Amino acid sequence: MSTHSITKRVSVPELRARKNQEKIVALTAHGCAIARIIDEHVDFILVGDSAAMVAYGHPNTLSITVDQLAAHGAAVVNATSHACVAVDMPFGSYQESPELAFRNAAKIMSTSGASCVKIEGGTVLAPTVRYLVDRGIPVVAHVGLMPQYLNTMGGFRAQGLDEASAQKIIEDALAHEAAGAFLLVLEGIGEPLARKITNMVSIPTIGIGASPECDGQILVSEDVLGLSGSKVLRFVKQYLDGEALIRSAVGQYAADVKSGAFPEAQHCFGIKAAK
Ligand code: KIV
Repeated sequence: MSTHSITKRVSVPELRARKNQEKIVALTAHGCAIARIIDEHVDFILVGDSAAMVAYGHPNTLSITVDQLAAHGAAVVNATSHACVAVDMPFGSYQESPELAFRNAAKIMSTSGASCVKIEGGTVLAPTVRYLVDRGIPVVAHVGLMPQYLNTMGGFRAQGLDEASAQKIIEDALAHEAAGAFLLVLEGIGEPLARKITNMVSIPTIGIGASPECDGQILVSEDVLGLSGSKVLRFVKQYLDGEALIRSAVGQYAADVKSGAFPEAQHCFGIKAAK
């Protein structure tokens, strides 16, 4: 858990200053319930476009809009007071031009109250990062396995496994750092590459499937809590079988409703509960 005061939200400069310091603890959240519970334990909450999959049941992250993520972002910001909250920029909302990226990022930030946005992409997007940062929008850059590029990558698979593609990811990371990104998410890359990038850049790296060599770690909360309904992926550690617990609780509720065991007197108005 972070040592920050629970009454003050972690700021962008504070996270930026965590390079080579205490590891950054990060998780995703898409709604109030999980955001409220995880807030005291994490430094950084990402309202990820993974919402397309875990909140809406789509097969990938491409099917979510600016308005949807802005609304999820507002729910997460309203439910938290400690963690720095970032909202993902959805597929198609920033790739076309820096101007379009600015309009959508500003909409996401003003609607949600989040402190920053995250974009996926290589060197071609570095000018967009610079454009946003210069206009007051802090940016988290996401390189390596980029789920929004699923169709060009030909599937969700580890990246940077040969020298040329590893070099490309290094160039992407350096370009985003030079453009002013304050955090770098490294996804689906091997330990030597994660170590190399983490040592090369002056901004903190946050890994997901990218080894302990990063300055922090992020996972999708539903994966950690056993609520994603899918098999546990190799890079995930599931800390709770939430699905089994909820099934059992709801099964008990259903049995109580059917048997009349619920509601009891204390749940009813105008009936005195027996002492
Ligand atoms: O959308 C997401 O949840 C992400 C992660 C880094 C987990 O981009």
